[in-house]
Amino acid sequence: MTGKFPGHRSGARAAGALYGAHPFGSMTHSDARRALHPLLMQWLEECAEAGGLLEVGCGGGDWLRTAVSLGVHQGGITGIDIASMALPALREEGYRVCAADAAHLPLPDDACSRVLCYGVLHHTPDPEAAFRELVRIALPGGTLCVATYHWGSPFHWLIHRLAAPVRWCYWHGHPGVIAPFFALYGVLLRKPGRWLLRQELDKATLRTLFMDQCITPYVHNISLRRITRMARAQGCEVLKTDYAGHRTMVAVVLRAPNGSIDSRA
Ligand SMILES: C[S@@+](CC[C@H](N)C(=O)[O-])C[C@H]1O[C@@H](n2cnc3c(N)ncnc32)[C@H](O)[C@@H]1O
Repeated sequence: MTGKFPGHRSGARAAGALYGAHPFGSMTHSDARRALHPLLMQWLEECAEAGGLLEVGCGGGDWLRTAVSLGVHQGGITGIDIASMALPALREEGYRVCAADAAHLPLPDDACSRVLCYGVLHHTPDPEAAFRELVRIALPGGTLCVATYHWGSPFHWLIHRLAAPVRWCYWHGHPGVIAPFFALYGVLLRKPGRWLLRQELDKATLRTLFMDQCITPYVHNISLRRITRMARAQGCEVLKTDYAGHRTMVAVVLRAPNGSIDSRA
C-alpha cells in the first residue's frame, strides 16, 4: 500500500490522518439515529445484561455513549480508533480508549466478550484482515456486531464512483480540488441527507459525511453474502442479519467460535 497515499506509510494511516482531522463525531446518538440501526440497538441492550464492550473504530464515541444510556457499565467499555485525535475527549469523559489499527489490535486472543465494529471495515485496506482481528480478540462464545457499507446500495455506487477522481486528486497532492465538490455535495445532499439521517445537517456535519463517504482512502461496498461468508470462514455462527440506515449498510450479529461463553465463566 506504500505510495498509494503519499506521505503515509499505509492506507490505514492515511485513513487515521483523515479521520483525525475530520473526526466522525458531530452526529449525535439521537433517537433518530438509533432508530436507523435496530439490530445494533438490540445487541447493545444485550451488552448491558452481559457487561463489557469493546468498540473498534469508535470515532467520536456516539455508540459508546448510547451503550451507557442503555445500561452498559462505562467502566467496562473500551474504544479503539486509528484516529488518535478523537480519543482524548472520550478519555476525559471517562472511557478507556486506545489508538490502534483494526488490522493490528494491541490485545491478546480471546480478550473481549462483546466486540462492536460499526461502519469501519469498509474503510480499511483489507476488510477480511481486519475482520480476522475482531474474531481473534473475541472471547469464544462471545458476540460481535459488525456493519459495513452495503454493496447493493445505489447511493454508495453513485457517490463512490462520482467521487473516485476527486479522492485520487486529494491523496495525490491536490487537496484544493475538493472545495467545489464539497459545495456540490452540500447542495445535492442537504435535503435527502436530512431525510436519510433524520436530523438537520449543519456545515460541519456535512463536511464530516463528505470526508467519510467521498475522500476517505477506502470505500469497500460489501454484500450480506460476503460478510456472512467472511464470518463463517472464521468459524463464527451468524446469529442475526439485517440492513441498517435505509439499507445503505449491512449489519450482522455473530457468535465467536469455539464453545459457549457460559462454559468458560
Ligand atoms: C464512519 S466512522 C464510524 C464511527 C463509529 N463507529 C460510528 O458508527 O459512529 C469510521 C471510523 O473508523 C475509524 N477507522 C478507519 N480505519 C480504521 C482502522 N484501520 N482501524 C481503526 N479505526 C479505523 C475512523 O477513524 C473513524 O473514526
